[in-house]
Amino acid sequence: MASEALALQRFVRQLDFVPKTFSITTAIDYTNSPPHIGHAYEKVLADVLARYHRLKGEKVFFLTGVDQHGQKVQQSAAKAGVPPAEFVKGITQKFIDLWKKLDVRYDEWAETTSDRHKKVVQGILQRLFDEGQIYKDKQSGYYSVRQEQFLTDKERGPDGQFGPQWGEIEFREEENYYFKLSQHKDWLFRYLDNRVDAVIPDFRQTELRNAVEKLSGDLCISRPKSRLDWGIELPFDNNFVTYVWFDALTNYISFAGYTVGEADSFPYNSQPATFRDKWPALQIIGKDILVPAHGIYWLIMLHAIGFPDDAMPQLLVHGWWNLGGAKMSKSAGNIVDPFVLADRYSPDALRYYLMSDIATGQDADFSEERLIERYNANLANNLGNLLNRTLNMTHRYRDGRLQRPSENPKLPDDAIDGYKQLLNEYTAIKVAARPDVMSERSLYLASVLNGFIEIRSPWKLAKSSRTEDREFLDDLLYDCAEALRILGTLISPVLPRAAHGIFDQLNWKMELSGKEERFSLADAEWGRLPDGHVVGKPVPLFPRIER
Ligand code: MSP
Repeated sequence: MASEALALQRFVRQLDFVPKTFSITTAIDYTNSPPHIGHAYEKVLADVLARYHRLKGEKVFFLTGVDQHGQKVQQSAAKAGVPPAEFVKGITQKFIDLWKKLDVRYDEWAETTSDRHKKVVQGILQRLFDEGQIYKDKQSGYYSVRQEQFLTDKERGPDGQFGPQWGEIEFREEENYYFKLSQHKDWLFRYLDNRVDAVIPDFRQTELRNAVEKLSGDLCISRPKSRLDWGIELPFDNNFVTYVWFDALTNYISFAGYTVGEADSFPYNSQPATFRDKWPALQIIGKDILVPAHGIYWLIMLHAIGFPDDAMPQLLVHGWWNLGGAKMSKSAGNIVDPFVLADRYSPDALRYYLMSDIATGQDADFSEERLIERYNANLANNLGNLLNRTLNMTHRYRDGRLQRPSENPKLPDDAIDGYKQLLNEYTAIKVAARPDVMSERSLYLASVLNGFIEIRSPWKLAKSSRTEDREFLDDLLYDCAEALRILGTLISPVLPRAAHGIFDQLNWKMELSGKEERFSLADAEWGRLPDGHVVGKPVPLFPRIER
């Protein structure tokens, strides 16, 4: 664990000082079935990181999208009795709708059936073919329909069988095109040796290294059209379409502006500056697609088309949400529908749960009970309550007008320390490892303030005729409102709607209402609410969920 934490720190420290665009991608989701909470988790995680970097004032490029080709999609479309193109349109729309609902704000959307993408995939294949890195051969053997690849004896478990992760297995014999993967094995070893944080967390890099050790043979990159025609045609043989990974992985660069127009545009340094500004990206993927897809195929593909080692992306590998300890799957019928949860509890409630009940890299068990508990305890009874009572009291005792104190905040040391600690801890290091770090610390601070209100009993101060009591009440109201303004900024990556709610009710930055630009870390400095500021009326931010 300690070395994992170190690698994570090293990696994110670099991110903290990269002056160019902060670029982040997610896996692109298969359009064979609608999204579930596993998909939602990954995209919200990327969105939180993207929002965090925007909050720091950085330029951000956040790319996500859908993987529309392949056998699974072709099969699902056939089952539904509609052409694949029509089928993927419907499912794609569901993903788009979900990201809109969950406030996942991406800068570019990848759809692998688009012409722009097809051109880059074909350009890369043609180049590798021309260079002799792709050849034709005949293969017969066992084939995993789920993973869309031929299996070798290496994939057999100790019992001699192919494990359940490979799904349905069939015997196949066919001519195909192959990419000379194994000739880059030594390079990949060297690369991983030289860059300890190529993959995070650490134990995933070890897993990848072990897999590279076992690497032998080349990668089949095609399917005859007689078997699969829902794909991108090979530019040098129109009887074939390309194998799913060559198509899917290329999205990360095709939608970031990589070009294949001219032969001399291939060297990395001849790529447009707009592309190089967005590359390399931090790539968020689930643990199931590290080996072999991203850790081996993708890194080798990039190397083969001339990307230098310092332009290799970093892979942030997250764990899985399970249900009752078991993997969620359509066939097992234990899919958790994110639309239903967002409608039932609010998009922010789902975002908060997904970010706070799992540690990045580990698996977790999804529990609606815990979602409700966390929501009620941390959001409704704590943060929502603080906002509500602060505004209520300001209206009741001071006609909604705040008096800016001449001195430092009169909050307990605990709150001041909490606030300072919050800003110190608010680094990319913490955010990647625990995307809820800012909201958790903010919520802690809110609880300290709630406790302070109880102790100082403003309702008693308001009745007092002593000047110092009346002044104390002024200070207390200002300090709570000011703390809420800062907390609004700090929680905005995880809880964007609540952050807007806080700002709206505080009557703060109203000209930017609803816009992400409203939040900036530079503004999270004590004392920005002006003297005489009039706050708005309270509206419940997080209505309690009754069971
Ligand atoms: N299309 C490929 C990825 C191509 S990337 C160039 C794919 N699609 S997927 O829809 O099966 O998965 C998309 C992402 O969702 C993957 O990163 C995967 O790990 C993640 N998840 C799928 N189920 C998940 C959970 N139950 N929990 C968390 N994430 C999971 O693979």
